[in-house]
Amino acid sequence: MPKIKVALIGVGNCASSFIQGIQYYSKPDTSQLGLRNPVLAGYTPKDIEVVAAFDVDIRKVGLDLSEAIFAKPNNAPKVCDVPNLGVKVSKGPLLDGIGESTQALVEVSNASDVNIAETLIASHAEVAINLLPSGASNATRFYAMQAIAAGCAFINATPNFIASDPMIAQQFEDADLPLVGDDLVDQIGSTGLHKTLLKLLSDSGVRISETYQLDVGGGTESVDTMSRTRDTKRSIKTEAVASSLSYKTKVVAGSTDYVDFLQNKRDSYFWISGTYFCNAPLKIDLKFQTVDAPNAGSVLFDVVRAIKVAISRKQKGALNTVCAYGFKRPPKMLTMENIEAEFSKFVA
Ligand SMILES: NC(=O)c1ccc[n+]([C@@H]2O[C@H](COP(=O)([O-])OP(=O)(O)OC[C@H]3O[C@@H](n4cnc5c(N)ncnc54)[C@H](O)[C@@H]3O)[C@@H](O)[C@H]2O)c1
Repeated sequence: MPKIKVALIGVGNCASSFIQGIQYYSKPDTSQLGLRNPVLAGYTPKDIEVVAAFDVDIRKVGLDLSEAIFAKPNNAPKVCDVPNLGVKVSKGPLLDGIGESTQALVEVSNASDVNIAETLIASHAEVAINLLPSGASNATRFYAMQAIAAGCAFINATPNFIASDPMIAQQFEDADLPLVGDDLVDQIGSTGLHKTLLKLLSDSGVRISETYQLDVGGGTESVDTMSRTRDTKRSIKTEAVASSLSYKTKVVAGSTDYVDFLQNKRDSYFWISGTYFCNAPLKIDLKFQTVDAPNAGSVLFDVVRAIKVAISRKQKGALNTVCAYGFKRPPKMLTMENIEAEFSKFVA
């Protein structure tokens, strides 16, 4: 298969897991356990090649990606050694990349900014993956426009509205480029688990009267979410969870706090209250712990390969099926039962 050449915008924890994942699953003797789709449309993770990367942190800019992914403040676990990749991290423009609360965690480099579109073109990147902090809304839009200028497809993993903004989606359509987003779904995340639990209970005849799900995390991203995107994140997650029920009830889902010693771990708390036969009460009080960055890897691999399929088919604009499969805030939400089948049909 031809390589899928990707550029990473932001070399934080997600980028670290993504790059380590490519190495991990490319070793000939490694089992493919842990991947939702070891092969997708004929492509394996080994077919993904990172050809460019942008960041602003002095501890990452100028380094080979193999070293930059382990530089502070990244705290995603190291699962394998990564050989020199021959890709240096370029300095991107800061814009609103760093919020007040993350200023103490990120050390901004004073190197000159590269021209993003020119760098993307020179690297032959065909897909740009946006892994900026969630509060970086202006920077996200800026990089999306640079992707258009460079002729790159765009994956927006952040909760900023790009694929779900009809004006931006139209710009990608006009440029004959595919676009997917917004806010990447985790492989096994709290939103997916919450939706599945609610659906299981509803299908069994339980009437849910109230439910909440709240997260505590220890990555830089948790600090950024708390201070800059708490409300957006809450509305995206709440809307996604509520969509699993066919009736309106009290639903709240969102992030609550930052606990530094959790490192890259995420604790998710679930509360569900309802009634079943003859109004008998039912309560679920659950804690679920995951490691944050690896939770993005498998879905990102799927989305990268799906967007490559779209590029070869010359599809353009927001890819609704891929958005509904891989993102919490797609332009069009699909029901849980339909997503898997629709996605398989798309990549077939
Ligand atoms: N499981 C997951 O981790 C997951 C799931 C869904 C969505 N996401 C989203 O993915 C994004 C990345 O998450 P993360 O945990 O890797 O965050 P992170 O904070 O670890 O990484 C962000 C990186 O962007 C860099 N950056 C900041 N401003 C920049 C700029 N202007 N130009 C270039 N680089 C810049 C930072 O220095 C940092 O290296 C977030 O928006 C998050 O909401 C992550």
